[in-house]
Amino acid sequence: MILITGGAGYIGSHTALKFLNDGFDILIFDNLENGHIETIDTLKKFGNISFEKGDLRNIDNLENVFSKYKIEAVIHFAAFALVGESVEDPAKYYRNNVFGTLNLLDTMIKHNVKKIVFSSTCATYGEPQYTPIDELHPQNPINPYGSSKLMVERILEDYDVAYGLKSVKLRYFNVAGCNEKAGIGEWHEPETHLIPNILKSVTDKNKIFKIFGDDYNTPDGTCIRDYVNVEDLADAHKLAYEYLKRENMSNVFNLGTEHGDSVKTIFTECEKVTGRKIPVQIAERRPGDPAILYANANKAKTILNWTPKRTITDSITSAYKWEKKLK
Ligand code: UFG
Repeated sequence: MILITGGAGYIGSHTALKFLNDGFDILIFDNLENGHIETIDTLKKFGNISFEKGDLRNIDNLENVFSKYKIEAVIHFAAFALVGESVEDPAKYYRNNVFGTLNLLDTMIKHNVKKIVFSSTCATYGEPQYTPIDELHPQNPINPYGSSKLMVERILEDYDVAYGLKSVKLRYFNVAGCNEKAGIGEWHEPETHLIPNILKSVTDKNKIFKIFGDDYNTPDGTCIRDYVNVEDLADAHKLAYEYLKRENMSNVFNLGTEHGDSVKTIFTECEKVTGRKIPVQIAERRPGDPAILYANANKAKTILNWTPKRTITDSITSAYKWEKKLK
């Protein structure tokens, strides 16, 4: 069976659904701090899924799970992922994302589970020195969230050499969209991400959407990001797992569309998809936002045979349907 940590969360639940649809037995381990029990209930409709509520920071919780189930591989999502919060409370990030992951890895090794797919991020690169960003771009994170993910990448490399733990590290760019038909989607409280925030200004009349800065050195002055669909991302996790099984080798891949969209472009697309005029104002820049980030994902294409299929319009369309459901 495949253990998915953080499987009650946004990307974790879409990946769990992908594995369930492909006939795998899934075990989800989640402390439900940011994940939702309703998501687990929804996933249960799609296949054989077990759920254990537990926390990575408590090694006994992990020991119980690894003793109770026969786990073949781990897909590790469980982490805190808010850049701003990580600057205010780095201890929370290092304790959960790094120390919690060490507990997981040590329990894996103890139980002879030697394959892991790890959720990393383009935030490990920091301020880009060039774009598109490939996997060889220097990694100099500019916030504790990015540092915590980079630390785990390094730990995974050392654990491979010393203990033969094989890992695929996936560095996501900006994730968007959902599978609203299945009943899962992006459900963060508070919500900080661009697309759901624009859409909340459609469903909530009192909410004016704020563009954080229009004086960047980009064609329309707003930041450019690479928005990859969450279902495409889920497919990549399945391919990464297959790669580990086939090659028994560690590796790292960027996951992005190789295409950048500005905040204003996304905003216009949201108005088009929703058919609504969305209230907007220009606000101050948000600290720590690089002007331009987009991926070179050629390595994932050639080695994993991964091709992102969904467009930004697909992502916004599904996100809008989901947002209306959440409301
Ligand atoms: N933005 C707005 N208004 C909002 C929200 C966002 O203008 O209400 C802008 C941001 O300033 C940024 C862009 O939209 O320019 C995208 O912002 P998001 O918060 O959606 O995403 P980020 O690029 O900040 O963050 C994402 C992931 C992080 C990851 C980071 C790596 O959410 O987990 O990419 O750069 F660390």
